[in-house]
Order: sequence, then C-alpha cells, then structure tokens
Amino acid sequence: MIREMSGYEVKALHYELLLKDILTAAEKLPPFPDVVWKVMSLLRKMAPIKQIEEVIQYDPIIAARILRLSQSTHYSRRHKVTSLKDAILVLGNQKLVQVVMAACTSQYFQKKVTGNARDDRELWRHSVATAFMGEILSGQMKSKRGLTIYTACLLHDIGKIVLDLYARMYLQVDLDPIRHSGAQFIEAERRALGIDHQELGRIIARRWQFPREVASGIQFHHTPDRADSDREIAQHVYAANLMVNAMKDEAITPAELQEDPVFQGMGLSEDRILKFQDFLLKSMEGVELYLKNGA
Ligand SMILES: [Fe+2]
Ligand SMILES: [Fe+2]
Repeated sequence: MIREMSGYEVKALHYELLLKDILTAAEKLPPFPDVVWKVMSLLRKMAPIKQIEEVIQYDPIIAARILRLSQSTHYSRRHKVTSLKDAILVLGNQKLVQVVMAACTSQYFQKKVTGNARDDRELWRHSVATAFMGEILSGQMKSKRGLTIYTACLLHDIGKIVLDLYARMYLQVDLDPIRHSGAQFIEAERRALGIDHQELGRIIARRWQFPREVASGIQFHHTPDRADSDREIAQHVYAANLMVNAMKDEAITPAELQEDPVFQGMGLSEDRILKFQDFLLKSMEGVELYLKNGA
C-alpha cells in the first residue's frame, strides 16, 4: 500500500530537491578561466612580456575585455593604454592580475548564465564597485592582503547569480526587496531556498579553486563576526559592500555606518567613509562605459 506523505514531508522533500537543483546548477557553471593563474605564475617567474601577452591572447574575448578595462582610469591612471603590451607594461603586476580577474568574472554576470539581463548588469556593476572600494579600503588600511580583498569583493555576490535564478523560477519571487529588509535576509534566503548566497558563493569560489581566504571572505561578507579565520578579509568585504550600497540607498547614511561595530573596529569614521566614497566615484568614471556596453 502506498502511504500518503504528510504536508510536512512533501515540503521537506520539495526543499531537499530544490537545494539539490541549486547545487547542481552551481556545479554546472563554466570553470573559471585559467588565464588568471597562468598570468600570476608568469609574473612570479618574471617571464618576458611576450609570454604573458601570448597567454592572454589565447582567448580573444577575454583579451578584448582586458584591453578595454585596462583603458579605464581606475587601472591606468596616468598612462595611455592602446594595446595588451601597453597594459602589461604600464599596469604593474597587481593591477594586471586585477584586470584579468575582472575580465574573467564578467562573463558570469550575463543573461545566458543568469536568465535576466537588466538585474545582472546591475549586479556586475555592484561587484566591480565593491572590488574597487575594497582596494581603496585595503590601501588606506595598509592591509597586506589587497589582492585577496579585491578578489573576495569582486566575487562576494556570485552566489546570487544562481540563487536568484532559482528564486524566480521556483518561487516566483524576487529576492532583492527581501534583501533590503535588514540583516535577517540571509536567514530568509535559507528558509526559502535551503541555502543563502554567502554559502553558495563559497561553494562556487572553492569549485573555481580560489584560495580558502577568498572563499571565507565571500562566505561571511554579511556576517564577518562569524568568520573563525581570515576575519580581516570578511570585514573588508562587509565594509566595502555597505559603503557601495550607501551610495545608492539614501536610507543608509555614512553617519549610521560609523556606528556599526565592524566600522568602529576598523576605525571608519563618517569623514573617512565620505572620502572613500568620493575616491570610488572617481574610480568608477572610467569603467562606466565598459559596464554600460554589457562588458
Ligand atoms: Fe551579499
Ligand atoms: Fe553586495
């Protein structure tokens, strides 16, 4: 005899299958292009420029993105970049790795991955702005982990590209308004879908072979006090994300941010927040066009 499942059992099964589906979709994301690791290894070996250029040129789409991004003021402030060779010569090692990283990441914020063009361009813009803010912040705080912070900032919301698609498909809900309803939205995501975008982001980052500290920065970017290790990274991503959000959302003011315990612990006063936001505005000028064109 077939036993009928109780309402609770049906719901539990539904969640289990939904979570399984979400994890499978994360698994199916295309692998992160290995040009970043190749460039890093060549830079470490102080390889000739020609060799670095060849590695970058291997993928023409990524190469074109790298060139266009290199031309933005954030990356090449005082120099004119007209070719990949210029970019390699002018940017310096850290900035070159950052550009390659951003160029590789942009492909995941496109309609063919996420199913929604408008929101995802906005998410891409937010990710780039947070990465720039993370860089400004780590520089001002004299952190030695600038590249790790930049990378964790760039990828901090990567879990959303899968999670939001599933929320729209299965629950017919848009998670964004829920996210603006306060810090509990992480719990709300977990209740609705069985997983939150921090945890899913950590899974994706580890699958892409990013170091543990990058994954941890992503995993705790809304809850840095929960990070057992590499808390400095999570705090930087947390602060960068909120400072960027505050530039769009009038409900979050720098005066309020300075009262946040994480901001207080980092010595981020209202004046410093305003100064960093001003730096970011200037940094973003050059990339706006790149972002507008769908990157
Ligand atoms: Fe987030
Ligand atoms: Fe964010």
